[in-house]
Amino acid sequence: MPLTPTTRVLLTGAGAQLAGAIRARFEGHCALTAVTRQECDIASPAAVARVLAAANPDVIINCASYNDVDGAERDPRAALSANGLAVGVLADAAAGADAVLLHYSTDFVFDPAVDPGPLREDAPTSPRSIYAQSKLLGEILAKRAPRHYVLRVASLFGGSRAKSSLDRLAAAIRRGDTVKAFANRTVTPSYVPDLAEAAAALLARDVPYGLYHCVNSGHGTWVDVARAIAVASGLDADRAVTPVPFDPSAFPARRPTYAALSNAALAAHGVMMPPWRDAIARYVRTLS
Ligand SMILES: NC(=O)c1ccc[n+]([C@@H]2O[C@H](COP(=O)([O-])OP(=O)(O)OC[C@H]3O[C@@H](n4cnc5c(N)ncnc54)[C@H](OP(=O)(O)O)[C@@H]3O)[C@@H](O)[C@H]2O)c1
Repeated sequence: MPLTPTTRVLLTGAGAQLAGAIRARFEGHCALTAVTRQECDIASPAAVARVLAAANPDVIINCASYNDVDGAERDPRAALSANGLAVGVLADAAAGADAVLLHYSTDFVFDPAVDPGPLREDAPTSPRSIYAQSKLLGEILAKRAPRHYVLRVASLFGGSRAKSSLDRLAAAIRRGDTVKAFANRTVTPSYVPDLAEAAAALLARDVPYGLYHCVNSGHGTWVDVARAIAVASGLDADRAVTPVPFDPSAFPARRPTYAALSNAALAAHGVMMPPWRDAIARYVRTLS
């Protein structure tokens, strides 16, 4: 479904860092209705029905999510509601409106015991935290929409609110701080403008519906990421970054040690994700 000025797109969770990039990419290319939590709590079937009736969308993009990974252990109900059951509400609404549902999930659904190499969509999930379990429930319930995309993303950065771990790391490095970074935690960073571009490309190319990993290409440890930020900022990476070991038991919620995602399935459908180091370099240029 290519975006045309008459394509009606409803964006839920419009306050999210990812939603800001989607707005920037989609506005002017389609008829976009963006609703924040205040305007549409996706956990409320009545609110979703009201907004859908008004927007009559061809596509629903859901960025709403309960993303406080540690907070979810204390308040599982909130996480399971927003990340799980509410996605079912949206999926049923999308099915009723014959709309496409594009929903986001997370690399945290994985937690392999050993490094298996970049994880493909069919790798066994192992959600060890309430957050991860709630997001996996959302993946399952999103399938109630016959026309659905579930995109697993990871370690977002570059949103306008600059609130992610990577954004905070970049700010500290660029102030001249020496930052601690995990030497043994492997991730696939995702630059939100690249994710927004991928969403547009996915729709334009009529990629078959289903589950895809949607992250920048390649993977690295948090030390690699921090060093790349320093290098792109013209700073001495050895001085800017102190490697420290990652201890999963140090946090209330378990986080995967290895969570590199392969985006080969998306690439096979012509949606090419730029390498993460290139994304970091472009991001750092926006900070100058
Ligand atoms: N950030 C990451 O590194 C990361 C990693 C992996 C996956 N993801 C996924 O990527 C997607 C986008 O994440 P993000 O980091 O851009 O999100 P974000 O900045 O944390 O924002 C989430 C938004 O969802 C809203 N929200 C929460 N519950 C809601 C509800 N019941 N109804 C409507 N809105 C609700 C929040 O509103 P309030 O602020 O008012 O609560 C907030 O505006 C999510 O699916 C997330 O799980 C993110």
